[in-house]
Amino acid sequence: MLREHQLANLTGNKRLQCPQFRSSEPRIHEDAPIKVFAMVKHGETFVSETDTEVIPKLCKFIFQGLNKTEGGKVPFSKLVMEVLKKLEGAYALLFKSTHYPGEMVACKRGSPLILGIKDPNSLGRGSFSHIRDAGDKKWRVIVLEDNDVLHLTGGGYGIYNTAQQDVEEAVPRVLLTLQMEVEQIMKGGADHFMQKEIHEQPESLLQTMRGRVQFQRPALGNPYFNPRIKLGGLVEVTETLKRCRRVMFVACGTSYHAAMAARQTIEEMCEVPVVLELASDLLDRRCPIFRDDSCVFLSQSGETADTLRALEYAKAKGALCMGITNTVGSSISRSTHFGVHLNAGYEIGVASTKAYTSQIIVVTMMALQLSEDSISKREKRDQIIDELGQLPGKVRRTLMLDGTMQELAKQLMSQHSLMFFARGYNYATALEAALKVKEVSLIHSEGILAGEMKHGVLALVDENLPIVVPETVEALQPVINIVPLQLLAYHLAILKGLDVDQPRNLAKSVTVS
Ligand code: F6R
Repeated sequence: MLREHQLANLTGNKRLQCPQFRSSEPRIHEDAPIKVFAMVKHGETFVSETDTEVIPKLCKFIFQGLNKTEGGKVPFSKLVMEVLKKLEGAYALLFKSTHYPGEMVACKRGSPLILGIKDPNSLGRGSFSHIRDAGDKKWRVIVLEDNDVLHLTGGGYGIYNTAQQDVEEAVPRVLLTLQMEVEQIMKGGADHFMQKEIHEQPESLLQTMRGRVQFQRPALGNPYFNPRIKLGGLVEVTETLKRCRRVMFVACGTSYHAAMAARQTIEEMCEVPVVLELASDLLDRRCPIFRDDSCVFLSQSGETADTLRALEYAKAKGALCMGITNTVGSSISRSTHFGVHLNAGYEIGVASTKAYTSQIIVVTMMALQLSEDSISKREKRDQIIDELGQLPGKVRRTLMLDGTMQELAKQLMSQHSLMFFARGYNYATALEAALKVKEVSLIHSEGILAGEMKHGVLALVDENLPIVVPETVEALQPVINIVPLQLLAYHLAILKGLDVDQPRNLAKSVTVS
């Protein structure tokens, strides 16, 4: 039997609030718990403390009620739609039932859900009438939209949307081909995905720049040649971006650090005020955003709940919203007004590595594209573009420090705390290195702005505290300097026998707030 304190836990979760089942706190409906007690009275027992358990119980209640009123078994999709009317908040759910053998219903709101199709021809004929791209053996996917209800039955499927007027009318959805081969998601020769992804960076950076940066000057020394950067997603909004009141970057974790690493380049090249916002904090503060702001949402997965919610908030305020993600078809790429994909390749290790360096490069390219017409920035712009061409090679050389970082990790592995000091462009490097060490090796670490050291942190420094100081130089240094520190974090975790690809308490996509 559900006890009262369990009920509070069950109903207090703000992520999924069923109006009938909220707790009795004054700000929430006062009669809410009565309904749960009604279910308990009907003989329902709640065995867990998760709010999700309410859903199957609710499903059963509605199933019994509908069967009585309709005089027979209602279609599975209709039953689920009735259940959804009672749910609030974000979810992605799959329903299976012994009452509907061989059928499955899936639905989503706020959280991501994708239907993967192995062989379109094996599904019912009529199901794919609106899909042109069918045929070979590659995996194909359909990205479900909010309020979609997918009904799989008899080898076919139908997608309905509870927000449309006629909920029984199927809605068409586009079939996408996954740009991902099986070997791409395997570890190759590496022991771990994190290791593989760190070592992939010369290639992933090249992919991020491919077709977007014009490296070679056709006539060497031609003073009139202006090398071009072309991020297709920005072309139509370049002028609007240049004239905006400020650029606001919104992200979480590593993606936030990437924005920080490239902020100075945007400021210097475009001479526009740049602010950085952690998505959760922006929401907590209800940060003022204006119609003439341009907001850039950075997210490897494109699914991070806080970033997504911040995006909806900024859109509601009328800001121009841009997405930078590594995931084609992700919620953030679909919900932003325009955007750029990282093309860094699939990132599987929970600790983000190659997406970070590609994010810095995309924001840097953005700065270069927006400053294309500026004569005063020309020299600096040319220098950065030349450097971009050399970057994959330099990162490859940096990766040769692998053995050195492994040795350093051996010396540091028994430390209780590490500090990373840096300034300017590399402050982000220090924060990101500390985050990597924390999350995979479980050693407390901090990134410190070197200029702030004497304002307090110095008190913590004694002869026993190891300090790793990356060099501070140009705009692209964060891309190179993070690489040995990623390796350091990786080796620390391995030496400590930890699961580097699945650090404790962490998920690759944080799809809840
Ligand atoms: C750390 C890490 C996280 C993510 C953060 C945002 O290695 O991966 O801090 O950066 O959860 O995720 P995305 O970029 O997918 O929005």
